[in-house]
Order: sequence, then C-alpha cells, then structure tokens
Amino acid sequence: MAETPPTIAELRDAAITRLRAAHDLPSTREWYREFLGDQGSVSALFREIGALPGDRRRAFGIAVNALKAELASALAERQSHLETCALDARIQAEQIDVTLPGRPVNRGFLHPTTRIIREICEIFGKMGFQTVEGPEVEYAKYNFDMLNIPADHPARDVWDTFHVVSEEDNIVLRTHTSPMQVRTMLQQQPPVRVVVPGRCYRFEATDATHLAMFYQVEGLAVGEGITLADLKGTLTEFARQMFGAERKTRFRCDFFPFVEPGVDFAIDCPQCGGKGCRLCKQTGWIELLGAGMVHPHVLEMVGYDTTKYTGFAFGMGPERLMLLKYGLDDIRDFYKNDTRWLRQMDQAWL
Ligand code: DAH
Repeated sequence: MAETPPTIAELRDAAITRLRAAHDLPSTREWYREFLGDQGSVSALFREIGALPGDRRRAFGIAVNALKAELASALAERQSHLETCALDARIQAEQIDVTLPGRPVNRGFLHPTTRIIREICEIFGKMGFQTVEGPEVEYAKYNFDMLNIPADHPARDVWDTFHVVSEEDNIVLRTHTSPMQVRTMLQQQPPVRVVVPGRCYRFEATDATHLAMFYQVEGLAVGEGITLADLKGTLTEFARQMFGAERKTRFRCDFFPFVEPGVDFAIDCPQCGGKGCRLCKQTGWIELLGAGMVHPHVLEMVGYDTTKYTGFAFGMGPERLMLLKYGLDDIRDFYKNDTRWLRQMDQAWL
C-alpha cells in the first residue's frame, strides 16, 4: 500500500504493541480511550481527512477507516482473551476436590453417669418399672418425716443436709431419692412400680468415695401380695443383668427407717469371683445397695390400705456401681469434666 501515509502504519504498530501489553480489562479500556475514543489518535486522523487535497482524501479516508476497523476487532479479541483468562484463573482458584475425604466431625457422647442410669432404668423397665423424676429442692416433710424419719430421730443425722434457707423453713436439697416414694404414692393407688434416677446432695467432705452432689436410683413396688421373695428375685435379676449371669447374691439385715425389714444387698465380687481381692477388700462380697419392705407406717402416712398392700423399695448409687464395674478408684473423676477421661470411659463401656 504505497499510498498509505507512514503516520497510519506507525500508529497501527504502536497501537497493536500497546494492546498486547494490556494484561487486564481496565488497561484495555484505557487503551480504547487513547486510540479509538473521541479524543483518541484515530479519531484525530478522521479530523485530518477534510484538510487534505482532493486526490489524497479518498485513499486516506479508506486507510483510516480500515485502521479503525482493524483496531476495533483487535480490541474485541484481546478483551475476550483476557476475560477467558480471568475466568480460568477464577475456576482454578475456586476449585474444590469433591473426592477428598471429609474432615472428621468431633462427635459428642453421653456422660458415663447418664449411660449407667439409662442402663439401670432399662433393666427395671423390662421388669415393668416406669421411670419418674422428682424435685431436687424438696420439703423436709417428704425427705424425712413421711419416710418415718421424725425431726428428733437419730437417723436424721446420717443425712447431713443442705438447708435451702434456714433449718426452720423445712426446705432442703434432697439427701436421697426416697422422697419420690412418698410423692409417687400420694399421686396414685397401687399397683406402683417406679424407678427414680436423680441428683442428691449431702453436706460432707469430698473424697475418693464421697461427693456432696451425687446420683441415686430409687425403686419402689407396691401392690397386693408383694413379699420379700419379690424383692430378692427382682434385685437378683438386676444384679445378674448388670454384673453377669453367674453372680451370687447375698441379703443381710440392715436398718433404714422407712423399711421393715431392711436389707443390705451384695453380690459376689465380679473381679475375683468371691476369692478375695483389692476390689472387694478381701471379703469376696460387694455391697450394691440398700433395700427393704416398705414400712407399714410409711404406707399409712400416704393413705394406703395396709391390710391390702405391701411393697418393697431399694436405693442405689450409680456412680458407685460404675466404680465397681470398671474397677475405678476415685468417684471425683466423674465430675472433673476432663474429656479425655470421659472419652476413655465411653470407649471402654461394657
Ligand atoms: N435412701 C437410702 C440412702 O440414701 C437408700 C435406701 C435404702 C433406699 C433402703 C431405699 C431403701 O429405698 O429401701 O441411704
């Protein structure tokens, strides 16, 4: 193209070189203003057309138009290339590998006390006992008096008691779950068959076998013709499900004001089979719980007909049961909230 003025060829080369150097979309817009915009160099060439002599005007006009078209299409191409690059980079950056194994979720688990209580209630549940719960802040009347423990009774000392306001207000933190025996009987007529898990409180020094807050599971069965044989059969079945079918049992006389007769229930040591070891303190026996035939006076106080109804009751400490079952030596571990210890218990569960 001999007649093309050198200014156009130079401008074209400069524009193309600059366009190649534009590495993002804002730079290409800048480039547009500089070359193709109203104030740009190509538009300036258009304005020169009119001033040219007639014989050169046509050829120059064609050349300028061709330049404009070429640059416009070069710009479009460059922009679409940059857009593709930007998209590729984004796809690369936001890539997720759906085949990667997921990060493990830290799953929670039940506290051993919750588990043992559920197990105990389930065993009794299969024998027809319903699970009920009662208040931890309790009337002294239910915690003591209606359980045959009058104010001046020496047995009341055994339950070192937290009084909620003062000793006179007669509201206490329950020292055992036995008050739920009274509440249950006041609410329904026999036949009664309940187990009562829950927290109890005693004002005492904490050591390896004592806590000021601990759990109990109470049991109560009242109906027609219930005898000590039913108590023995029920507790023996419980002990065998909990500690193994081969367990031997022992019932000895004991005293609790709300039962007559009262018994102390023991199993032969599951660790040594009765030969004598550290767990059973060389006696061959492990005391599991207190129980007895509900005292007729207790039945009278709730208005039951004692010529018709008899019953048995029992109370156990689930933490103590766990110490025995797992050969642990410190009850305080249960409530330190050391999750490593708790998880270990969870994994060792039998
Ligand atoms: N309440 C008693 C205690 O805390 C345990 C107990 C013994 C409960 C004998 C009973 C029972 O129901 O019959 O030491």
